[in-house]
Amino acid sequence: MSSDSELIFEIKDLIKWFPVRTGLFSSFSGKKEFVRAVDNISFNIKKGEVVCLVGESGSGKTTAARLIIRLEDATGGQIIFKGNDIAGLKQSAIRKLRRNMQIVFQNPYESLDPRMTIFEIVSEPLHLMKICPGKEVAPRVIKALEDVGLYPAEEFNHRYPHELSGGQRQRVSIARALIVGPEFIIADEPASMLDANTRIEILNLLQDLQARYNMGILFITHDLAQARYLGDTLILLYLGKIIEKGEINLVIKSPHHPYTKALISNVPIPDPDAKRTRIDIEGEIPTAIHLPPGCRFSPRCPFAFEKCLDEEPELLMKHGRLSACWLD
Ligand SMILES: Nc1ncnc2c1ncn2[C@@H]1O[C@H](COP(=O)(O)OP(=O)(O)OP(=O)(O)O)[C@@H](O)[C@H]1O
Ligand SMILES: [Mg+2]
Repeated sequence: MSSDSELIFEIKDLIKWFPVRTGLFSSFSGKKEFVRAVDNISFNIKKGEVVCLVGESGSGKTTAARLIIRLEDATGGQIIFKGNDIAGLKQSAIRKLRRNMQIVFQNPYESLDPRMTIFEIVSEPLHLMKICPGKEVAPRVIKALEDVGLYPAEEFNHRYPHELSGGQRQRVSIARALIVGPEFIIADEPASMLDANTRIEILNLLQDLQARYNMGILFITHDLAQARYLGDTLILLYLGKIIEKGEINLVIKSPHHPYTKALISNVPIPDPDAKRTRIDIEGEIPTAIHLPPGCRFSPRCPFAFEKCLDEEPELLMKHGRLSACWLD
């Protein structure tokens, strides 16, 4: 899939800590507490590459996505878009860059304005970003609707979101993102609210569009099977940190981190070659507020030893993929 090694994004040491409403005790003691939603992550996205950001609920996927396209301000770090750090840019400057970076949200029932027609929804970014002369708007909308498989496109123009199925609405969301000709899109769980057949259709559509326009995609999901279906590179997040990263088939075939191993051993991904022992992990993912001093996964890790409780593991290259774990 990724045919070009040109970098779109270089994310360096990205951090987002949200202040939490503190209890009575902490407000007396004056000690501020934070959720470390994104806690120092670095990775690149190349032109035409599909990077999958995977993790359980609360691991920081959406926060990371929103930081990258500056819908949210980072607490620290660099967001280098085609050579320029955009982390500190004012929103007026960001608006000019928006046509290069679009986002498709999870819930097509909430993300489309119910009072607007499909034509108005899909054409809106052209007006907001002043992308083309008025006479080009209608043909561009038709092309965008056709690109996402809504035929005959003219018949959709005057309809409203409530007249469409969930899958059709998600196609409209994708058309709205696509119409400005972005080089990069974020798809935040774009298929998880849909039934199984529609989910596959939407994943296939993203795959087609990615190939047709050689777009970079940051695909967010908690579902490893979806990630493998679409992705080139897998990044696994745990409590705001990258714990494993690498070429997706390599990581799924031979994961290094115990958490990755556990996730993979618990999902039905067809692979006759893989020898998998099911690993069960106790407990739920905690909130990233009171983190242990060593590895943040150590309280749930069946293999944790002394060092894991004292020292936070760095993300190091282990047999062709990066893993943050003290085990060999
Ligand atoms: N605006 C905010 N204010 C305070 N805390 C926040 C805010 N947004 C997110 N968080 C917290 O940051 C952490 C990461 O949240 P985020 O939504 O990025 O996770 P996620 O991986 O996208 O989860 P999900 O799979 O449920 O969508 C969570 O603990 C969440 O409660
Ligand atoms: Mg999310």
